[in-house]
Amino acid sequence: MKNVLVTGGLGFIGSHTCVELINSGFHPIVLDNLSNSEMWIKDRIEKITNQTLTFYHGDCRDAQLLDTIFSEDQIDGIIHFAASKAVGESVAEPLKYYNNNLGGLTSILEASTKHKCSNLVFSSSCTVYGTPDSLPVDESAMIKNAESPYGTTKIVCERIIQDLSKADPSYKSILLRYFNPIGAHESSLIGELPVGVPSNLVPFITQAAAGLRDGLTVFGDDYNTKDGSCVRDFIHVTDLAKAHIKALAFLLNENEGTCEAVNIGTGHGNTVLELITAFEKVSAQKLNYTIGKRRNGDVEAVYADATKSKKLLGWEATISLEQALLDAWNWQKTLANN
Ligand code: WQD
Repeated sequence: MKNVLVTGGLGFIGSHTCVELINSGFHPIVLDNLSNSEMWIKDRIEKITNQTLTFYHGDCRDAQLLDTIFSEDQIDGIIHFAASKAVGESVAEPLKYYNNNLGGLTSILEASTKHKCSNLVFSSSCTVYGTPDSLPVDESAMIKNAESPYGTTKIVCERIIQDLSKADPSYKSILLRYFNPIGAHESSLIGELPVGVPSNLVPFITQAAAGLRDGLTVFGDDYNTKDGSCVRDFIHVTDLAKAHIKALAFLLNENEGTCEAVNIGTGHGNTVLELITAFEKVSAQKLNYTIGKRRNGDVEAVYADATKSKKLLGWEATISLEQALLDAWNWQKTLANN
């Protein structure tokens, strides 16, 4: 059985990926500092998969701990999720973001080269495209200056991995550029756990529908889109998790060094207002929303050209927007009952 180090494995995308790794016959070894996750997520992953999860509580920047992990088991691949991800917070605390996101990655890369394990799947983001010149956006699009320190860390992390690949042409990596992950596991046992007031759209919607928020503000309806609200490519987190398994399998099959950026999206754009209407329909809840001002730093429209993921990895999204919203709502309801 192949051992896969999953940093940030108890987080939103990490936890769903652990489930899919186990379902696909891999052995995930989780490293998580619990800065934005909860220990009980481990129990939930174990409940879903009926297997014990190997877990280390610690930080990716702890080189000694990485040495222990790499010496304990042969690590066949690494999926590196662990990073700070709140866009607004990154503007207020840029050094925290540069230290954690860049330091975490370089530490992982050092351990991985030292212990002769490449096969790295890295969590990147469509944020690297900024406002794309054309849509759908493909991987050859220009990488723009980021709107936030968070975005800058994703651009620089990609660059660091590309530079390592140039220095060591045998190194194997895939940079997955996620679009907007939403939804939750179909079991409603794991899902997104926003800290404080959610800044992302879907957790805000589900909390508003559950009565935890007074109302929802749509940030702008004067964009040049079909209904004036922003367009995003919303992808179910389970589909996204499965993309990691495909990326890992691709790397394990590759004999030569490689470093490829791959979009992970559905290939379709939906407006914020369309998403609200779809949510109201599947949840049978009326949302109390108003139209507000544009949010600083928001991109008008972005959705993926999903051709490369299908061609290179044999992966494409399969779960509908409606199902993703229903899963997010079911997860929110179980949280309220906890
Ligand atoms: C989606 C749309 C908002 C909240 C961010 C990061 C990105 C990524 C995912 C992270 C926008 C609108 C939102 C609300 C609203 N990575 N909105 N009312 O900004 O596309 O992407 O999260 O880890 O890097 O930038 O996602 O969910 O915040 O917003 O109208 O209360 O919903 O303006 O158009 P975004 P989002």
